[in-house]
Amino acid sequence: AEPLRVGLIGLGTVGASVFERLASLPGRVRITAVLVRDATRSRDIGGSAELGAELAQVLTDDPEQFFASDCDVVVELAGGVGEETDEKTDVDAGSRADRPRRSLGTGALVRRALASGHHVVTANKALVARDGDELFELAARAGVRLAFGAAVGGAVPALERVRELRARGRRVRWIAGVLNGTVGFVLDALENGTGLDAAIARAQERGLAEADPTLDLDGTDAGHKIVLLARAAGARSVAIDGIAALDGSTAAVAERARTRGLRLTQVARVDLGDEQVPDTALDHSSEREHVGDPRIDRTTELDRTHRDDSERSARASVRLLELDRHHPLGRARGEDNAVSIGLDDGETVVLHGRGAGAWPTAEAVLGDVLELARSGVSRRSDRTAPVGGNGPTGRPSES
Ligand code: NAP
Ligand code: HSE
Repeated sequence: AEPLRVGLIGLGTVGASVFERLASLPGRVRITAVLVRDATRSRDIGGSAELGAELAQVLTDDPEQFFASDCDVVVELAGGVGEETDEKTDVDAGSRADRPRRSLGTGALVRRALASGHHVVTANKALVARDGDELFELAARAGVRLAFGAAVGGAVPALERVRELRARGRRVRWIAGVLNGTVGFVLDALENGTGLDAAIARAQERGLAEADPTLDLDGTDAGHKIVLLARAAGARSVAIDGIAALDGSTAAVAERARTRGLRLTQVARVDLGDEQVPDTALDHSSEREHVGDPRIDRTTELDRTHRDDSERSARASVRLLELDRHHPLGRARGEDNAVSIGLDDGETVVLHGRGAGAWPTAEAVLGDVLELARSGVSRRSDRTAPVGGNGPTGRPSES
């Protein structure tokens, strides 16, 4: 079979790792273009001259050139949700001199990719949590798939497991997780006496943090992920009850927890169904909430879904809790993630693994790309009408 043609947007921490992995699968995948903000910047890809030469042939900062490369799948690893269009003119000498270029925001790139009949694979939890309904609608109309397994859990197949449980007819009652590797890494470092700024800088060096690390530290990123897990479990609307942020007082709280044999842990949690599930049902018998800064109702910011009373509603929160070190979630160290899924027959499924950074995320992205290749999705040129035409109308599988 012909290799799947992949266009990659973003060549940062995750994108560079995905490029290397895709380039190692020449029979199954062909990279047609790589879009970045600035193609003139030097790139150190896998330290190999061969890979560097391969990249030079497909690298561009021109969205028009990117889409002209005619790929089947767009892998979006740029981050952000923006629509903004930035007109820029090259004034450098050389082939690109005085050529006006348009730089599109990530939201605009993903919408364009879907609307013009490309499958999209993304790790962008912010975009899918915020605009998922609209994007799935767009994908359905174009007859393509939007896959985002890498948006939650890194190497922990959290979304996949929730979907699989539902597909087997199991009802998910609650989900609680350590979902942000940066915060886990920073809390560990604080516990060991490192200052907050130094801990954040180390998390950035390790490629764990978002481009704007405030999104990690103020709980927004974990909020996006719990919203995505809640929807995978069947919730159509997710109300956010509160989000706790790390701040200048967190180091002292983490240290106090340590001296009592506990660990300060960021826990994102969602309760599905009509009644709030009591804490005891989560088996968090030793958890105590850090009453630091549980604040901000982010319902509108994190969840713009329209309420539909016929489907399940859910209540979510992101809190800083003091957990026993043997607690299933308290055992997650550093950038590891952990997810507990509570089922209505009382069974709890617990998953652990590397949650953030280049390789676990690249593995999850690759899983989605290879799943598309395996499922024999048609080449873009074979597909029927673009948006507005007579394409399939069913909701695509959120694989
Ligand atoms: P990053 O290191 O900041 O890299 C971003 C890349 O995207 C850069 O190559 C940048 O181009 C390019 N880019 C940004 N905006 C663009 C635009 N409008 N048009 C074209 N290119 C654009 O980001 P990252 O850490 O790899 O994260 C990427 C995505 O993966 C984010 O959605 C993030 O939330 C998600 N994610 C990250 C991790 C992780 O552990 N890092 C884990 C899971 C999910 P230049 O190189 O020219 O600046
Ligand atoms: N910044 C995110 C984290 C990346 O630290 O968990 C993984 O989604």
